[in-house]
Amino acid sequence: MRQSKPVSASRSILSMQMLPSDANPMGFVHGGTILKLVDTAAAVAAMRHARQTVVSASIDKMDFYHRVFVGDLLILKSSVNYTGRTSMEVGVRIEAEDLKTGKTSHTGSSYVTYVALDDEGEPTEIPEVNPHTKEEKRRWLEGKQRREVRLRLARKRGKA
Ligand SMILES: CC(C)(COP(=O)(O)OP(=O)(O)OC[C@H]1O[C@@H](n2cnc3c(N)ncnc32)[C@H](O)[C@@H]1OP(=O)(O)O)[C@@H](O)C(=O)NCCC(=O)NCCS
Repeated sequence: MRQSKPVSASRSILSMQMLPSDANPMGFVHGGTILKLVDTAAAVAAMRHARQTVVSASIDKMDFYHRVFVGDLLILKSSVNYTGRTSMEVGVRIEAEDLKTGKTSHTGSSYVTYVALDDEGEPTEIPEVNPHTKEEKRRWLEGKQRREVRLRLARKRGKA
């Protein structure tokens, strides 16, 4: 029988203070810096769930709600929302904390799909994620719906 794991097994938090080297020419944090951290944070959750090598298959559209400033602490909270046979959707919530005031704002959310690979580099089965709380169940259902849309689009382009 296929193994199952709770969402809590993948839950991860990555936080990093933004430095001048993370800034764009306008002086606030570069979107590319945030995207790289999203992929890093999401991959940790995916590996915690699968305990295998994972590769990112797709990153959904992402909106930036607020600017993030140099000196802010960027906090990325990630966990597995939904699993297929070899792939999983990881949700990442991105927050920025002003370290002087303690004010935290939700700056965006992103969904990244990872595929687990075996030692030959072929997609391999992962445990099913087992949502327990009301919120985990809502995310599971929404993740399932997003996967259907994603795969329909990829098929249209001949990429899945
Ligand atoms: C992702 C990858 C492994 C999929 O390989 P593939 O030959 O299409 O494999 P399969 O058709 O067997 O599909 C494997 C899983 O990927 C999923 N998948 C494939 N294309 C996808 C896409 N565009 N979006 C989301 N999921 C996708 C499939 O649904 C399947 O999941 P499931 O088993 O849960 O149903 C392959 O395309 C790849 O290696 N891409 C490059 C990854 C990479 O370099 N990422 C960036 C750096 S890590």
